[in-house]
Amino acid sequence: LKHPSGHSVPLLREPQPKSARPLYIRLYQRIRAGVLNGALPPGTRLPSARTLAREEGISRNTVEAALHQLQAEGFVVRKTGAGTWISDELPTRLLRPRRSSGEAGKAPRGGDPSPLSEKPPSLSTCGRRVTEVGGEEAEPVGLLFAPCVPGLAALPLDGWNRIATRHTRRANASTLFQPPPAGLPVLREAVAQYLHMDRGIECTAEQIIILNSTQQGINLVARLLLNEGDAVWFEDPGYRSARRALVAAGARPVPVPVDEEGIDVTHGASVAPEARLVYVTPSHQYPTGVTLSLSRRLELLAWAEASGGWILEDDYDSELRYEGRPLAAVQGIDRSERVLYAGTFNKILFPGLRVAYLVLPRPLVGPFARAKEVTDGFTPPLVQRVLAEFINEGHFSIHLRRVREVYRERRDRFLAVAGDVLPPHARLGPSEAGMHVALHFGGGVDDRDVSEKARRRGLAVPALSSYCIQSEARGLLVHYGHAPVADIERGTRQLAELL
Ligand SMILES: Cc1ncc(COP(=O)(O)O)c(C=O)c1O
Repeated sequence: LKHPSGHSVPLLREPQPKSARPLYIRLYQRIRAGVLNGALPPGTRLPSARTLAREEGISRNTVEAALHQLQAEGFVVRKTGAGTWISDELPTRLLRPRRSSGEAGKAPRGGDPSPLSEKPPSLSTCGRRVTEVGGEEAEPVGLLFAPCVPGLAALPLDGWNRIATRHTRRANASTLFQPPPAGLPVLREAVAQYLHMDRGIECTAEQIIILNSTQQGINLVARLLLNEGDAVWFEDPGYRSARRALVAAGARPVPVPVDEEGIDVTHGASVAPEARLVYVTPSHQYPTGVTLSLSRRLELLAWAEASGGWILEDDYDSELRYEGRPLAAVQGIDRSERVLYAGTFNKILFPGLRVAYLVLPRPLVGPFARAKEVTDGFTPPLVQRVLAEFINEGHFSIHLRRVREVYRERRDRFLAVAGDVLPPHARLGPSEAGMHVALHFGGGVDDRDVSEKARRRGLAVPALSSYCIQSEARGLLVHYGHAPVADIERGTRQLAELL
């Protein structure tokens, strides 16, 4: 194909990276790129489809399909019997070579689109914070003891799939159209009843906002209740994803030590009395596994009431308790409406589900529903509907009974083998609840090094120090929940060898 100046404009012929795209798309894209970067100016006459096919070594139908697409999009004009031209209605001044960071102003060779700029984008203050706090990628499937992986065999997929199929087949307005941003009433009602019966939570369905994740809840809390630079008491060691969300939102997490009674409220009140929020995991502190004592719960509530601060209670795996009765949620003993309670189905069912919720003091319900709508509209109604029915038909309680048994057996096996094979400098943390146990090391052990070595052997056991801000806790986290007992035995022995 010839440019009006006489030089040749290669289309398909120049060396191309292997592409799975059909030939006609490739021809279409190259002519389009030629037009956009000025190599094929408006008014250029294209060879006939037959000539193009011969020159490019492709079939005439392929050329026709490409030209048809270009015509439909307004890049070329075709006149029957006369030929095909690059449309001369295109504004020439807007057609120019793309610039790449290294060669601003230079035309890319051969009319090929240049690579996208490698210059870092200019981001807002918030954008820079979001990228700087980094992210947490899911561990590759197959690594033993990895966090956030449920036991697949323990999932109630038969019941779930039956309900899901029914609702997909009988789709109607309640699953196809936009639900209220706070969630489907049927699910909010089901969650309220479950929380009342199982967790001693005092709330009505109207106080529940359905979200995609606890993570979304933490983001909304930061957006609605915190100003730039506001102090937040943060458990140290604590849940990394929560800290990242707070930092990204411009809040200032203040490390507050965790001891055998949970977060040290007296310490928090002395280092940051002005804090606007406390983020806590009272039922099963993440990652240490301790339970917040009743006296600390009362101290925390008294502090919040006196200071006007908020408590964000993240009850991420409270369904799994193997010994003793669970303490009532902090929300359940709050008399001053200072607690926002976060629960999730992503942990006890499966992480791809994306359904969680916040139980809110009444005055906050309106603002949170609005914030949910402003930030992502709503949680998919089909999945809300299926989950509601899954709870209402009793599958959820059957699932809970079942996984408590399965995870208890796995925990017992882990504790028994660990007790036999782990060296004395490795001490096990509390293990009455949840799907993981913290393994604490005595002084001097580099837990990141051990974690790295374990990873090379297929064990995903994060270093405890990676959850610390100032705390000097060292050790590993072992998420035994997803692993069959034989794997738990093998993995625990491997860990012991490393230690
Ligand atoms: C402390 C804590 N909170 C919350 C969650 C649940 O997160 P989400 O609902 O955001 O998936 C997890 C999951 O591992 C967690 O460890």
